[in-house]
Amino acid sequence: MIKYPDQERELCLLEMKSLFGKELTHTYLFSSRDIDPSRSPYIKVRITLLHTASSLEELVQILVDEKITCNDFKFERFKVEEGQLGYATWIESVTELGKVIQGEVDMKNPSVQFGLTLIDGLWLFGTYEKNENPWEQHNLKPYTNSNSLDTRVARALVNIAVGQQLQTRLVDPCCGIGTVVLEALSLHIPVTGYEISWIITEQAKVNVSFLGYDNCISRMDIQEVTEKYDVAILDLPYGLFAHITHSQQQDIITAARRITEKLVILTFSDMDEDIASAGFSIVERCTVNKGKFVRFVRVCS
Ligand SMILES: C[S@@+](CC[C@H](N)C(=O)[O-])C[C@H]1O[C@@H](n2cnc3c(N)ncnc32)[C@H](O)[C@@H]1O
Repeated sequence: MIKYPDQERELCLLEMKSLFGKELTHTYLFSSRDIDPSRSPYIKVRITLLHTASSLEELVQILVDEKITCNDFKFERFKVEEGQLGYATWIESVTELGKVIQGEVDMKNPSVQFGLTLIDGLWLFGTYEKNENPWEQHNLKPYTNSNSLDTRVARALVNIAVGQQLQTRLVDPCCGIGTVVLEALSLHIPVTGYEISWIITEQAKVNVSFLGYDNCISRMDIQEVTEKYDVAILDLPYGLFAHITHSQQQDIITAARRITEKLVILTFSDMDEDIASAGFSIVERCTVNKGKFVRFVRVCS
């Protein structure tokens, strides 16, 4: 089950495509990929399907035949916008199913949570897991900046950058106080951050250590980076809070081409021509709105 704020719709669609390899066309999607529901800021709930049936009676019979045994279980209610299971029918249905599951119900401390819904005439029954929203903890970091990314956006960018490949070597070459780096660390992705400003580098290091991770941030101009990476997330410095010229921005994009195979870049204006001139091909694009600002996201190879 997927949910996103309107201003992050395009980012969510891109993230789902990267994680599940398919377009999101409803507020839910079916996938055989094992993606942890806490991985994305936009996944609300995952139901790991155990059985499907074309009627409740059929589903009840399946559970009887399977002799499903489970102690301390509970049915969790969740809403699917396009679903057809109103509250009254849901209560009746889970009562029927509960009767044939062998074991005790525990409403307070269940060891297993089940989910039940009805979509397009198909009854779906499985284990229920909700997103634990781990990135919310990252908002407690000691330092943040006026140009820092929203943690949700940073997490989605990381997912867009690495997709299913959690072993991808990731770099944030202009990492600021480390918003992107922290999301990658919490997903156990090997990540490095570089930052030109001494003071901001120190703040990023404090943030990383505050959240219990080993340091992976260095003070360095992107022009001096010699290491090569599979993918970079570049939140391009812009002239709103810092003095940076267009030609310096172009130099940063060109330097990124030298150190990475794949690039996810965020810019404050449409810089497609500069991205292409640096030798990148744009393969995906979207925008993210933040208040009155629009940020341009480009995925490049
Ligand atoms: C838009 S901010 C990044 C914000 C970051 N994503 C965050 O959430 O905190 C861009 C950062 O790039 C840094 N920067 C500017 N020029 C740089 C360069 N040549 N090499 C490395 N970092 C640079 C700036 O000091 C600034 O902190």
